[in-house]
Amino acid sequence: MQQTIRPSGRLSGVLSLPGDKSISHRFAMIASLAEGTSRISNFSTGADCHSTLGCVQALGIDASEEGTTVTIHGKGLRGWKEPAGDLDAGNSGSTIRMMAGLLAAQPFTSSIFGDESLSRRPMARVMKPLAEMGAKIEARDGQFPPLTIHGGELHAIDYTLPVPSAQVKTCVLFGGLFAEGQTIVREPIRSRDHTEIALREFGADIQIKQRVITLQGRPTLTGRDVVVPSDLSSAAFFLVAGLLVPDSNLVIQGVGLNPSRSALLDFLLSTGANIKVLKLQSVNGEPIGDIQVRHAPIRGGVIEKDLAAALIDEIPVLAVLGAASEEGFIVRDAAELRIKETDRIATVADNFKRMGIEIEVTPDGMRIPGRQKFRAANFDSFGDHRIAMAFAVAALRGDGESTIDNADAASVSFPEFWGILEKAAGR
Ligand code: S3P
Repeated sequence: MQQTIRPSGRLSGVLSLPGDKSISHRFAMIASLAEGTSRISNFSTGADCHSTLGCVQALGIDASEEGTTVTIHGKGLRGWKEPAGDLDAGNSGSTIRMMAGLLAAQPFTSSIFGDESLSRRPMARVMKPLAEMGAKIEARDGQFPPLTIHGGELHAIDYTLPVPSAQVKTCVLFGGLFAEGQTIVREPIRSRDHTEIALREFGADIQIKQRVITLQGRPTLTGRDVVVPSDLSSAAFFLVAGLLVPDSNLVIQGVGLNPSRSALLDFLLSTGANIKVLKLQSVNGEPIGDIQVRHAPIRGGVIEKDLAAALIDEIPVLAVLGAASEEGFIVRDAAELRIKETDRIATVADNFKRMGIEIEVTPDGMRIPGRQKFRAANFDSFGDHRIAMAFAVAALRGDGESTIDNADAASVSFPEFWGILEKAAGR
């Protein structure tokens, strides 16, 4: 699908965005291992979380949807059945990496595969700790999907994450659910902690001290009703759009503001953004609030070290903001960008060239001068949801009509994006 985006006058209105992708994955997987029924409200509408639901169903768990409420009838930690066929993770790194920890502990062999993009993403980062726990996993060329997972008894480990990755942390903790004793994960750089919060909500004994997480194995998880906050990473596109387009004033309702994600707001504020959080509250252990954003000049900024890890999903759209800022943005320590749904350093640079925007690419980041002119262009998402949406935001500032090829990629996390953008632009 090709999407046409015209430059926009002020963006305004009160927006409701779909449920958080990271939290929806975790709630679905944990509910499928809990005893009894869980109702998950505001479940992500994105294709990725539906890949997770499809896997859970294929493992013999009754999961149904009504609107954005998902009902899962869990059968306890030992309730999964051998699937009749291979499990399909679609485009979703979270699905394959987190499910790997759970599949490794089952009393059966399973295979899990993904689309072309997922088939190129590295799995050694989960295979290594799972092997230490006693798992036997085969992968294409030793490290790429599909994975064949010979499930069996796992033992608890004490593991220090070599890469800052919440998916890897979750995979190890999920394996640890089935192991006797304490599984410990140590994080040199803090990553999102939705797994820890969700496991606790469903009844697991999990302690977090500084960046050391300790999980007691073999808990009884109990089904319950939970609400998913709206996705801050989806809100990021509208936050940047609101900052970029003169006179904009947007309110985004009920957004997840977990401190392991909200570094985005702190970073934007540090660059001079006009952002306010209203109505802060806590839902199922996760902070949520409404965010108001108004157009404002942006100074400049450096995204590096821990901040690079915390903002990794937002860097494509922040790069767009950087090109419009006064002093430009520098991104370093973000080599992980190269192994996301696309090589996001390369796909950002490719689209910047199409619109005449200068960028210097480095192995682990980019340098984007500020005060650049945004020209209309023909963009390509290269099949990456966040690239599609980042360049739709860039197109709002273009000097004419832009097009985005493969725009349907946005559906991976945010199928409503195009409609909400049109509405905010008053069209
Ligand atoms: C995610 C963790 C991050 C992030 C991804 C979602 C999660 O990946 O980029 O979009 O839900 O745990 P890594 O764990 O590979 O950093």
